[in-house]
Amino acid sequence: MAKLQIRKVGDEVLRKTCRPVEEITPRILTLLDDMIDTMRAANGVGLAAPQVGILRRIAVVEVEEGEVYELINPKIIARAGEQEGAEGCLSVPGRYGLVKRPQHVTVRATNRHGEEFEVTAHDFLARAFCHEIDHLDGHLYIDKVTRMLEEDEY
Ligand code: NI
Repeated sequence: MAKLQIRKVGDEVLRKTCRPVEEITPRILTLLDDMIDTMRAANGVGLAAPQVGILRRIAVVEVEEGEVYELINPKIIARAGEQEGAEGCLSVPGRYGLVKRPQHVTVRATNRHGEEFEVTAHDFLARAFCHEIDHLDGHLYIDKVTRMLEEDEY
């Protein structure tokens, strides 16, 4: 396992649309492992492949320690409600902003064994899924922020 370099805002790779994963190769599995290591080392709760320079539809999320979601080709298939809350991004270090997101989302994705699954998430986990899936289409939370937070607000 290895720690990968996290690309920062201004890097064009963060603005590209990622391609779907067509086959889960050993390289994809290594990437998933490395992304989890990288996310944890940076104290993040999520990481998307373009953040490590790979233009593939892959993201990892770990909001509750030990509860890791590996999302290959994820798609939001249902959303409900609305929440506004603070959001940050490993590609935008040291900054947070308020973003409106659905309160509940259902995501369909493929796991590392090539099996399709669905997960319904609420509250902060729903926010994390939306944020990471946005990355796969070149969107950063700073594009949709209601307001950036001042340092004394977080
Ligand atoms: Ni992010």
